[in-house]
Amino acid sequence: IWEIVMKALDGIRILDMTHVQSGPTCTQLLGWFGADVIKVERPGVGDATRGQLRDIPDVDSLYFTMLNHNKRSITLNTKDETGKEIFTRLIQECDVMVENFAPGALDRMGFSWEKIQQINPRMIYASVKGFGPGPYSDCKVYENVAQCAGGSASTTGFLDGPPLVTGSQIGDSGTGLNLALGIVTALFQRETTGKGQRVLASMQDGVLNLCRVKLRDQQRLQHGPLTEYSQHSEQIEFGDTTPRAGNDSGGGQPGCILKCKGWEADPNAYTYFIAQAAAWKNICDVIGRPSWKEDSDFATPAVRLPRLGEVFKAIEKWTMTKTKYEVMDICNPLDIPVGPILSMKELSEEPSLRDTGTIVSVEHPERGSYLTVGNPIKLSDSPSEVERSPLLGEHTDAILREVLGFGDEEIASARSAGAV
Ligand code: COA
Repeated sequence: IWEIVMKALDGIRILDMTHVQSGPTCTQLLGWFGADVIKVERPGVGDATRGQLRDIPDVDSLYFTMLNHNKRSITLNTKDETGKEIFTRLIQECDVMVENFAPGALDRMGFSWEKIQQINPRMIYASVKGFGPGPYSDCKVYENVAQCAGGSASTTGFLDGPPLVTGSQIGDSGTGLNLALGIVTALFQRETTGKGQRVLASMQDGVLNLCRVKLRDQQRLQHGPLTEYSQHSEQIEFGDTTPRAGNDSGGGQPGCILKCKGWEADPNAYTYFIAQAAAWKNICDVIGRPSWKEDSDFATPAVRLPRLGEVFKAIEKWTMTKTKYEVMDICNPLDIPVGPILSMKELSEEPSLRDTGTIVSVEHPERGSYLTVGNPIKLSDSPSEVERSPLLGEHTDAILREVLGFGDEEIASARSAGAV
């Protein structure tokens, strides 16, 4: 018996005009779900990231390969007349066009949303931009600009230090996720309307959305101090905006990053520790402070709040006697939520992440094998397999033949016109 394993987005064709990180994250996800992703790149140049941060000379960078799995690459000059004709035919044959050029770039090429709708009314046209409509809509934007403009930087870092950007690419990869959801939702609506639509995900909007707890705190500030912030237990007055809160928890349960055994030599020998109210008695026993269970200064969350500094100091005295893994092994069975600070080295060597396909090893004809992230979203009936990223223009002929029905002569004339 043959079982045909279909992928969720089998039969959906994506015209992928994306570059750098935000757009490519989105189309890579769609590729992992089974869409045929046709990445359009400028002849001889390609996505700028192919050449950025290279670790091996003349080989596509890890930056590029890790963002462009499960895609085919066609080179096409969309500013050339023949190139525009080919591009028009690709628009006719695809379901979704995705781009994250600087504002107006596609209009300058002659492909406005109105024109695209004329060419293919079923086309879903999806864009990442730095900002939505408004005073900054014309700006070019990269990750850290979005982190700053979306509220993340002003609320990250320590109270006495400058704003900080985070290592998570919430502006780029985060917005790519939003765009992918917008596209799949538009495809779903097309089932009933028969029409495509415009999908826009702005990086500022995406970052701000991820920072909603800080917008929550901005409003709470009008009604008094933020009592769960360590600033409060340190008796430092609040200003009129959500402050940076170091490693304080953003939720209702106080938390902190604490040193573990070996912290003097290992920069990641730390654990996150959440002083979960429901686990308080277990915490007192584990850290050797059983008297705190009944002590009127420590027994309830409300009385502990102004003493959180003292509480975490006592907990740290205990965590410093254990490795971060021992802390996890002891606390987990007691329902005390803790998180070891895992380094990239530890994560890349973690067997369970390999087993689930969250980290995979991929073979590339020019660079050999390398590690990358697999699909973080697992569908039981549509498993993702990570395929290596395409070489520049690797599939130009195949796409012209299969998708547009070109013969040898047409391909040769497109080549001699410099369009592909
Ligand atoms: N054929 C011909 N021309 C092509 C082409 C192709 N296949 N692909 C791209 N181009 C052209 C574009 O039309 C544009 O030309 P124009 O300036 O004459 O209109 C040009 O290449 C460069 O595009 P642009 O997007 O301006 O690249 P950039 O390197 O100057 O800027 C960003 C990069 C990321 C700052 C910018 O694209 C941007 O702000 N994007 C939106 C936000 C975003 O996604 N940022 C995060 C990136 S991770």
